[in-house]
This record gives sequence, C-alpha cells and structure tokens, in this order.
Amino acid sequence: MRIIMLGPPGAGKGTQAVHLAKKYAIPHISTGDMLRESIQKKTPLGKKVEEVIQSGQLVSDAVVLDLVRERLAASDCVRGFVLDGIPRTLEQAQSLLREGVATDHVVELTLADEEIVRRISGRRVHESSGRTYHLIFNPPTNSGQDDQTGEPLVQRPDDREETVRQRLEVYHQQTRPLVTFYKKLAEQGAVRIHTVAGAGSVAEVTTALFETLTLARSCSV
Ligand code: AP5
Repeated sequence: MRIIMLGPPGAGKGTQAVHLAKKYAIPHISTGDMLRESIQKKTPLGKKVEEVIQSGQLVSDAVVLDLVRERLAASDCVRGFVLDGIPRTLEQAQSLLREGVATDHVVELTLADEEIVRRISGRRVHESSGRTYHLIFNPPTNSGQDDQTGEPLVQRPDDREETVRQRLEVYHQQTRPLVTFYKKLAEQGAVRIHTVAGAGSVAEVTTALFETLTLARSCSV
C-alpha cells in the first residue's frame, strides 16, 4: 500500500495517516514532522527552515525532496508507506513520479476553511514524537500531557490563526492543483484517487477511509 494523503492544513491528514500506517503495517512519513524534528534538534537544516515554517510558507522543493528520498530508501518502506505533507507542489509531484516513486492510492481529505481554523486552534502536539491531540475533539487522557510519555504538550508556532490563514492560502494556490494532476494520472490507470470528507469525528473519518480503500482494493483484484 503506497498512499499519498492530500488535503488542507488541519484536515486530519496526520491523524488519519497514523491509523492507516497501523492498519497496513507501513511507515507514516510526514515531512512536517521531519522538519519540526530538525528544528527541535537545532540541526543546520532546522535553522534554515524554522523561519519559513513559522511564516506559513513552503520550504524549498529541493530540501523536502532530499528528505523524503532518503526516508523512502529505508528498508521499512518496501511494503509501502503513507506520505503525509508531500507532495505539496507540482514540482514535488513530478519529481516523485520521475524518480519512480510509485503510488497506489491518493486520498484527498476535504474540510471547509472555517472548520480548519477551529480545529487547528485547539491542536496540541507532543514535540518529540509528533503525536497530535485536540483540546476538545481528541483530548489526551491527562490534560496537557502526552498519553504515552506524560511529557507536556505544546501548541505549534505555526498554528496561530493568521499563520493558519496564510497556510490555507498557500494550500489553495500550490497544493490543491495536485488533485487535478492525480486525476489525470488516474485516467491513465497509473493511480487511484479518492475523496473522503474530513468532517465528522476522527472515528467516522477513519471508518470512511478504511471502507474506501478496502473497496478500491477489492475492485482491483
Ligand atoms: P505539515 O505538518 O505537513 O502541516 P499541514 O499540511 O499544514 O498539516 P497539519 O499538520 O497542520 O494538519 P493535518 O491535516 O495533518 O491535521 P491533523 O491530523 O494534525 O507542514 C508544516 C509546514 O512544514 C508547512 O507549512 C511547510 O512550511 C513545511 N512543509 C511540510 N512539508 C512540506 C513540503 N512537502 N514542501 C514544502 N514545505 C513543507 O489535525 C488537526 C487538528 O484537528 C488536531 O488537533 C486533531 O486532533 C484534530 N482533528 C483531526 N481529525 C479530526 C476530526 N475528524 N474531528 C475533530 N478534530 C480532528
């Protein structure tokens, strides 16, 4: 199962990618998590990208493509992967294609902009693992603490409302056109594309996603 998750910031890509990775026993590869880890560890890459991410803009194609290329070469990707956060530009999608990164399913999670702002403002994360919670919709067992380690949860610096609106604008301009790109590939039989509504509870969206992929897989046997 080689899956690409598309969708606006806050649509639930990361939340659902965790469920998909578990169900199909494949790695969840999030470029956002990888970049945030490099910032947290203050690596040269982290220092280079910190300001860009906090302003809601995209990191350069070359940087993220290098990151993901290296990750996809790891042995745990032989059975598949869930790509979350990449591709995000036409250049990234075309590069992955040129480099032979095959994809079975592209899933577009949809959600209205105002709901996105509401969701993101309540998001809290465990910095070192990338585990994500929501103050109301997906709260941790103990308020303010990660369920597995008990460590404190924080708000992402790029989750302030004005930055979220900037990220949404970037999404509509640069990433949404990828839906058309993959629809064209789907017409040639190179990939399958599915649209899943991101509204509804986390469990409802997971169920819809699993049903969609199960049906698609049974149709292709
Ligand atoms: P990245 O981390 O990829 O951010 P994003 O795409 O903006 O996505 P988010 O992580 O904000 O949202 P999500 O859809 O994963 O939602 P989540 O599941 O957390 O990238 C961050 C930055 O890094 C970018 O802005 C860019 O600068 C850079 N970057 C990364 N990749 C790049 C690339 N390829 N090229 C260039 N730059 C790149 O859910 C959101 C909240 O809602 C959570 O609190 C969650 O608990 C809650 N929630 C989830 N589902 C539900 C539900 N069904 N009901 C209620 N609440 C829900």
